[in-house]
Amino acid sequence: MLQVLVNRKAHVADGICSFELRLANGELLPAFTAGAHVDVHLPSGVVRQYSLCNPPEERHRYLIGVLKDPLSRGGSQAMHERVEQGQALQISEPRNLFPLAAHGQRHLLIAGGIGITPMLAMAHELERQGADFELHYCFRSRDRAAFLDSLENASFAPRVTLHDDSSAEPSKLDASALLQRPEPGRHIYVCGPGGFMDYILTTAAAAGWPEDQVHREFFAAAPIDHDGDQAFEVELARSGKVFQIPADRSVFEVLDDAGIEIETSCEQGICGSCITRVLSGTPDHRDQFMTDSEHARNDQFTPCCSRAKTPRLVLDL
Ligand code: FES
Repeated sequence: MLQVLVNRKAHVADGICSFELRLANGELLPAFTAGAHVDVHLPSGVVRQYSLCNPPEERHRYLIGVLKDPLSRGGSQAMHERVEQGQALQISEPRNLFPLAAHGQRHLLIAGGIGITPMLAMAHELERQGADFELHYCFRSRDRAAFLDSLENASFAPRVTLHDDSSAEPSKLDASALLQRPEPGRHIYVCGPGGFMDYILTTAAAAGWPEDQVHREFFAAAPIDHDGDQAFEVELARSGKVFQIPADRSVFEVLDDAGIEIETSCEQGICGSCITRVLSGTPDHRDQFMTDSEHARNDQFTPCCSRAKTPRLVLDL
């Protein structure tokens, strides 16, 4: 855990604030790679993940952008209303679940709204590497688009295409044209609201882009339908212990109560922190982190939200 200070809080677009975080003692922060996020532990106990958007070679600060979600469950609203400049915050060290493909030859970054935050760090890093990339930024209107100034003034500005839904000249992203056909060595990165992600991911899949060339990071989980949820059992292979998972509780909650440690972060199936190996039984996957082919293998699942299609799952715990 890191104790940081909010060195600067700024309003960067309608409903979006940026927070510049520094170590209180002025020392260097742990290094991070493009696409990484930190968990911010709010004083209320709520934990939220925010992507780092400054250039990864910077060690004196972390920069995050937070969209105030009208349906906030206590995270973004508290960040906007209760976290002020000069305040201390506890954050995790950076973790990267959305890294750039190490062997990618060309990179296509597609951001929707607040999904620009990890893409900014990626663009800075790709520029530093001299890599071949382009960034498409889709937003409803300029006043709701964060970090436009940074993008328009960046050295990589010629690689950026803005898609402003409100512009008189339609500049809407045409994903079918952009993703027309898969290209060897070219990697796509997508981040933004659920509907936007679906549009891009469905278009890429329909055009035949291989899953391993399409990288995504969700900000919020799609609603899960809990009607029909049933109780089931999990067995821990190493101890042989068996736990009953009631219809209204997650595997993580039950195991956590029993003192069994599983690393979690989002607890809603979007970050992948809790992925656990499944040795037998069939999971009922509810996460958005794993790909379709990973789901089909049924050899791992996310205990924070996923359930079971069989009466018992045996876990590698
Ligand atoms: S904790 Fe994020 S997917 Fe389970």
